[in-house]
Amino acid sequence: MTNLLKIRNLRKSYGNINAVDGIDFDVREGEIFGLLGPNGAGKSTVISMISTLFKPDSGDVLYNDKSIVENNRFIQSDLGIVPQDIALYPTLSGLQNLKFWGRNYGLKGRELDEKILGVSKIIGIEERLKDRVDKYSGGMKRRLNIGVALLHDPKILIMDEPTVGIDPQSRNHILETVKDLNKKGMTIIYTSHYMEEVEFLCDRVSIMDDGKIIATGTVDELIEIVGSTFNVVLEFNIVEEELVQMLKGLENVQSITIDGDSLILNVKENGILKAVVDKLNGSKYHVVSMDVEKPNLETVFLYLTGKALRD
Ligand SMILES: Nc1ncnc2c1ncn2[C@@H]1O[C@H](COP(=O)(O)OP(=O)(O)OP(=O)(O)O)[C@@H](O)[C@H]1O
Ligand SMILES: [Mg+2]
Repeated sequence: MTNLLKIRNLRKSYGNINAVDGIDFDVREGEIFGLLGPNGAGKSTVISMISTLFKPDSGDVLYNDKSIVENNRFIQSDLGIVPQDIALYPTLSGLQNLKFWGRNYGLKGRELDEKILGVSKIIGIEERLKDRVDKYSGGMKRRLNIGVALLHDPKILIMDEPTVGIDPQSRNHILETVKDLNKKGMTIIYTSHYMEEVEFLCDRVSIMDDGKIIATGTVDELIEIVGSTFNVVLEFNIVEEELVQMLKGLENVQSITIDGDSLILNVKENGILKAVVDKLNGSKYHVVSMDVEKPNLETVFLYLTGKALRD
């Protein structure tokens, strides 16, 4: 498969914050590529540079081997962008918004009407198109924003956390839409801090943290990084530093993360509960409940950074 986009040693700082700190990755034609990372990782800054919204401090973005940093016209008409912050006119109707943005892309007359019809079918809000956007739910606004990005039949669709803060129904609709668009041949770049979405959607993923890419691969390849380890989530009557210290020395425990009333133990082998119970015997701590999680992208993130991906 051809590498449609090549991101090379890309850097961008805001004052003394290195938002994007020298990153490299490729996006292949026809894939759904995920950029997974916590808040502030630098995902939107990367997206903004690929979208040619702003220029990197250094490094390059190549589209079909041509630098779009030097000349953004190589990519602009091929790109659809769903920004993290909704970009719609709230006092206009959905239809008026689609018309406005469509004209912006140079569409008009019957072609524009046809595109709008096609797009409204994809986003599934046909019956509400005549209503003002400020009467829409968050999920409907998101869908309309996706519609706007699709009007000119882009080759590449870039979506920046398109499911944050919306209802589950709209969320599922968006995830299914992404899959469908991709099946029809669209290349998609999808950023998220929800590992479930990235696991569900993406062919390949780069995990980002603190301006850097810490791992790239298919979901399966990334999970192989953690090998046969898995997470055991133990809920306790109380969680205190003393408890963490007591469990730290246990054999097969690779790391311990505090999560409210629970501790997440990353372990090499099962059978850990007996070891924990033996260790805590006679102390004031006891296990209330337990859950075992197979390794997923969350585990990979935890393993590589020592932090939880969730907020
Ligand atoms: N315009 C700006 N001025 C100053 N700092 C900024 C600006 N935009 C982003 N940053 C900082 O750059 C870093 C990366 O931000 P960015 O928005 O790219 O991350 P993100 O991964 O998209 O996060 P989120 O999940 O919150 O959207 C953060 O530390 C952020 O505070
Ligand atoms: Mg962002």
